[in-house]
Amino acid sequence: MQSSTRPNDRQTAIFVSVAVGIIVAVVTTATFYWVYDLALGRERVAAATLAKAVWSPSDGTKAISAAAPNVPTDARQPWLGVSAWTAGVQAGQTWVTNNPNPVNVQVLTGMSSAQIWAYMQQYVAGGLGVSCQYCHDINNFSLDTFPQKVAARNMMYLANDLNANFILKLPNWRGNYVQCATCHNSKPNNMEAFGPQFAGSVPPIKVTVDPLDAAGVPITDPAKKPVAIQGKVKLQEAVLYYIYNYQVWKPYDAADPASGRGSLALEYKGGRTQDQVTNNQNVMNYMGWSLGVGCNYCHNSRNFPAYETAPVSNVTNQLYAYNKRKAQQMLLMTSWIQANWVTYGAIGKDAIPTPLEGGASKLSYHLIDGKYYVEPGCFTCHQGFNNIDGISVPRAAMNQVSFKDLGDAGQVVFPQALRGGQ
Ligand code: HEC
Ligand code: HEC
Ligand code: HEC
Ligand code: HEC
Repeated sequence: MQSSTRPNDRQTAIFVSVAVGIIVAVVTTATFYWVYDLALGRERVAAATLAKAVWSPSDGTKAISAAAPNVPTDARQPWLGVSAWTAGVQAGQTWVTNNPNPVNVQVLTGMSSAQIWAYMQQYVAGGLGVSCQYCHDINNFSLDTFPQKVAARNMMYLANDLNANFILKLPNWRGNYVQCATCHNSKPNNMEAFGPQFAGSVPPIKVTVDPLDAAGVPITDPAKKPVAIQGKVKLQEAVLYYIYNYQVWKPYDAADPASGRGSLALEYKGGRTQDQVTNNQNVMNYMGWSLGVGCNYCHNSRNFPAYETAPVSNVTNQLYAYNKRKAQQMLLMTSWIQANWVTYGAIGKDAIPTPLEGGASKLSYHLIDGKYYVEPGCFTCHQGFNNIDGISVPRAAMNQVSFKDLGDAGQVVFPQALRGGQ
């Protein structure tokens, strides 16, 4: 009896080899981890931290000066590479010395040349990731020689209109404005409106779109629908239809639980069809992927039709209050952008570029009046980004708190003309 409680030689041998095995495994794992950490781990952690950081104009400057110098085929001077950047900034300095007051300024009125120079450098050139020469003849900054400058001026009106009509009117606005970089993210064109997960997640099927009329009644007669959706359409196209043609037929009213209904509601007169549900869910997925969030960011998952503005314990995070109403406002914004896009001066292309540039997908290009344009969607600004608290504010939005803190040290100039009248 007693001998069975003492290990025999065979048991000792097993014990020793298991122990040695564990030590070897631990040491090997630790060694591999150490090598990984030295080689890749720190870089990955740093990259993840950087990806969460708010966009800084130096991101844009880096994009310009770290890029290989280019030679454009039109009349413009090279606008990439470190020497193009330096030449543009220095020419700007000379211009400011000779012209303390601006000469041909239509939007940025009330600013001195020095303020315009600082804004241009940090938020226009930086925001688009291009040097001054992309838009300017740097021998004379007041000339409107290049279509890029004219487009940029119209985009200044765009930023102002988006802020005035939609952003400042968000319920419980957090204080972030749309600026050039919010959409451009240090790229001049070919921005992507669709997250890579979205295109991959939509099944390749065709669906019927029965849009709701102004009273919330589905239009089922094809002859009464817009031409683009008279027949069955690819599900991807149906999602785009809702993002760009959204309307509210029963505006939100805190006293009426059945209010706040729009094109994507599933509660309406006439009843839902399987395809309506499919369309709704794929738009919901599109918004979720674009913001990097799940359904309960906007919904009380026990009551999808409800609008939660005073969240209680059934909403996962107090900070998510109002998000469904904010999302509705944003759907109205993307629809408004679509309806007015050409008037804001984007430069149309004769064909979709092949190979596609800058990571854009074919889905982002739309034919308007015979030209192809990239139009903004939720992903253009949001990029699947959310910060430490899980709040989905685009990382390149202009935050009023940060520029207040920086004071008037010439660090941050965010023109009055872009703030939506604030
Ligand atoms: C994306 C296009 C774009 C880029 C890049 C750009 N600018 Fe401008 N710039 C404009 C537009 C548009 C205006 C006119 C704004 C208006 O009408 O209110 C302007 C105006 C100016 C003016 C005032 C000119 C006058 O009429 O007195 C100066 C100075 C200037 N830019 C300097 C620069 C400098 C320096 C750079 C590079 C660091 C630069 N810009 C980069 C688009 C651009
Ligand atoms: C709502 C999103 C949005 C905002 C805000 C915005 N842009 Fe754009 N911009 C776009 C899109 C999308 C295009 C078209 C890109 C394409 O067709 O590939 C574009 C095109 C342009 C072009 C033409 C580029 C080319 O070569 O085709 C210029 C120049 C430009 N924007 C400047 C600006 C400036 C300057 C600002 C800030 C005052 C600004 N944009 C703000 C979305 C935006
Ligand atoms: C970014 C915010 C947002 C996210 C994320 C989101 N939704 Fe929605 N959802 C909305 C908005 C806004 C509406 C209102 C549509 C309307 O009435 O036009 C809506 C409507 C709905 C409806 C119809 C409710 C009704 O009134 O009949 C359902 C069901 C729904 N969402 C499910 C989901 C599911 C499931 C997910 C996750 C895959 C999700 N949503 C993710 C914003 C969001
Ligand atoms: C032109 C850029 C732009 C586009 C396009 C855009 N957003 Fe936003 N979005 C913003 C900005 C800026 C804010 C932050 C506003 C604030 O400070 O309250 C924001 C905030 C939000 C918020 C609230 C986040 C929070 O916690 O306060 C939601 C939800 C949202 N957007 C959903 C969407 C959806 C859905 C779409 C597409 C239908 C979309 N956005 C398209 C710029 C954009």
